[in-house]
Amino acid sequence: MKKEKVFITRRIPEKGIELLQKQYEVEVWSDEEPIPRDILLSKIQNFGGLVCMLSDKIDKELMDQAPKLKVIANYAVGFDNIDVKYASKKGIKVGNTPGVLTETTADLAFSLLMAASRRITEAVEYVKAGKWHTWGPRLLLGYDVWGSTLGVIGFGRIGQAMARRGLGFGMKVLYHSRTPKPEAEEAMDVEYASLDEIYSQSDYISLHINLNESSKGLIDKKALNQMKSNCILINTARGAVINTEDLIDALETSKIAGAGLDVTDPEPIPSDSKLLKLNNCIVVPHIGSASYATRSKMSVMAAENVIAALSGETLPYEVK
Ligand code: DGY
Repeated sequence: MKKEKVFITRRIPEKGIELLQKQYEVEVWSDEEPIPRDILLSKIQNFGGLVCMLSDKIDKELMDQAPKLKVIANYAVGFDNIDVKYASKKGIKVGNTPGVLTETTADLAFSLLMAASRRITEAVEYVKAGKWHTWGPRLLLGYDVWGSTLGVIGFGRIGQAMARRGLGFGMKVLYHSRTPKPEAEEAMDVEYASLDEIYSQSDYISLHINLNESSKGLIDKKALNQMKSNCILINTARGAVINTEDLIDALETSKIAGAGLDVTDPEPIPSDSKLLKLNNCIVVPHIGSASYATRSKMSVMAAENVIAALSGETLPYEVK
């Protein structure tokens, strides 16, 4: 019998590729850059399984050119790059990689919070530029983390992991989610708050919401205007939950003190973006889940999703 074909749109860690190679004919797009859209469109008709990245747009146009496609395994927990509704209409299963990257992404979110509060990137640049001539009583002053208030917007797995980190650093933690989470409040010392309360009371705000029609542009001028002038905004969710122009304005005019961004809109961020010229903004290239161990586990999960679907079984990590 002819082997089923699986396409992987980037070189993911070997473990996942090896698992797939045991059973299928696997093709990997090995370039450093994402596969050009037209090449993906021209290839996809041959494949029964697709492992794709959050940077690949998997939409109606693509699925309509994929008569053999049975499964789309996103190599990410977020799946806003996939038209899940259309996939379900076509009978194509969709999978993601939940859980495994929770703590790793929260680590990065908290690193951004610490780096922005204590101006670590500015300090590193200062030393590298040979400007460190003496100890300075007013040199590179930042904001305390301990004793401050952290507002977490989105209180799923990653939001709760961020809250635990905040509590460990002696912060008061407020959270907002569509509905209060009494079980989380029982497990840790956190308080439910409305969005307005989060905006007006937090010294740090960290975003952990999915990108969808209602969250798109949630952090806009109106929201930013309600924030404290010492507030530092952290985003490891998706770039488009923040209105970029409004954020630039808030940072330029010191309406808020700073931002730490793992995700941007657009992504990647254009090299001439004003955000990159601001001292009070740290931008890293969407590395929330980028630890060796986590990325390797994610490759196995994506492979397991493909294997299950191509064997006619329920996906272990299915998006519905
Ligand atoms: C995901 O997997 O959706 C995250 O954005 C990775 O950082």
